[in-house]
Amino acid sequence: MTISNQTKDNSNQQASAHANGKHLPGIASLSTQDFKAHRDSFFANMADNSIAFFAAATEVTRSNDTEFSFCQNKNFYYLSGFNEPDALLVLLKREHSQQTILFSLPKDKNQEVWHGRRVGQEQACSVYGVDQCFTLDEKDQHIAEYLNGITQVYFTFDDQPLTQTVFAWLAKVRATIRQGTKAPSKVVDASPIINELRLIKSDNEIEVMRQVNYISCLAHQRAMEKTQAGLYEYQIENEIRHEFTRHGARYAAYATIVAGGDNANILHYTDNSETLNDNELLLIDAGGELAGYAADITRTFPVNGKFTAPQKALYQLVLDSKSSVIEAIKPGVTFAKLNEIANQELTTGLYNLGILSGDLATLIAEKACKKYFIHGLGHWLGLDVHDVGDYHINQDKAQLREFAQGMVLTIEPGLYMPLDDTELDAQWRGIGIRIEDNIVVTEQGYENLTADCPETINDIEALMAR
Ligand code: GLY
Ligand code: MN
Ligand code: MN
Repeated sequence: MTISNQTKDNSNQQASAHANGKHLPGIASLSTQDFKAHRDSFFANMADNSIAFFAAATEVTRSNDTEFSFCQNKNFYYLSGFNEPDALLVLLKREHSQQTILFSLPKDKNQEVWHGRRVGQEQACSVYGVDQCFTLDEKDQHIAEYLNGITQVYFTFDDQPLTQTVFAWLAKVRATIRQGTKAPSKVVDASPIINELRLIKSDNEIEVMRQVNYISCLAHQRAMEKTQAGLYEYQIENEIRHEFTRHGARYAAYATIVAGGDNANILHYTDNSETLNDNELLLIDAGGELAGYAADITRTFPVNGKFTAPQKALYQLVLDSKSSVIEAIKPGVTFAKLNEIANQELTTGLYNLGILSGDLATLIAEKACKKYFIHGLGHWLGLDVHDVGDYHINQDKAQLREFAQGMVLTIEPGLYMPLDDTELDAQWRGIGIRIEDNIVVTEQGYENLTADCPETINDIEALMAR
């Protein structure tokens, strides 16, 4: 794979950084300083005399005595970089000071022999740059002290266990008011603050996302090279996983979709249990996770390496619409504008192929392509694959927000023509196509993080003919 990055402005410095070998396995991660910067940004949004609580994730049982791979709570991770379960991060802002306190599992020889190493409290301060660290057992006592004299409390209201715990702490502090304690009177949802912070990525976050895209592009390329009729979809899933882990992306960011033929018309097809058939397309939606950050890439290609005429016609249409949409991305543009472009191109293309009929202007006005393009055009991307951040500029959801430098989003037009749709001419049935790229909004335009992933008909056919 050639290493180059499509840019519309002068971000070429990054492309040469790649050529200098920055894409070695597993090197991309955020530093203690990055996480401290995230905390400082959150502190800057807190009122004086306030406190914020963020809870780590807890292990989730898969079945008796076995757990799913641990996935840290992304808000907690964004503010701490700490990857153990059950911890609690406290941001305490008094009038002239701000303090970060971590509560975590204690060092415990027996537990660690069975379940793995723990950082413990001594090391946590230096490794994670927090001011103090205590064991979880010490939590209630310290928090009762912190809450005395605080006026407002921040936590994410969608975290139910944390919400319950915070209200229990508040009740406990209120119960001691006669002894002179001053209990907080206001609770504030931390989500809008942290979501906005997470929406705008720093240069270092973008570099991690560049690398996880690079790795994920290699995985898609490997899938194209390994695909042949008769294999099971899950065998291709395994090739993808192999390439992710080979380059340091230990986990997939979401359940990989390997959907042969008509399975591509099931949007979240993750069974990956069927065999691949000659003359059918294969849709793969797969992205690795690196240092917590996701890639979300889709490619669609022929199982036997050669597009049929109807597959080619629909594929080129989706590809052209993706290119036109991406070309329009820059600060100030909205998803509404991009949807207009996608609708214009897809509806006109479907009309030209005879799939939509009637008056073209009316079809465009009615967004007729939505009959076959049945999902959204894209979404924010970051620590979560469907990342946090408001899509609208105000509470009444009337207007989509403008793009700004540092936002990362997917662009993923698709066309879905199910096998059982008898309204369609037979040649189109059983074709499902999506092509999905990851885009950074730059100062004057965009950077396509997915530009190295083969997508033109010529490139795909050439690669698969090897
Ligand atoms: N992989 C999920 C999505 O494309 O949104
Ligand atoms: Mn997506
Ligand atoms: Mn996807």
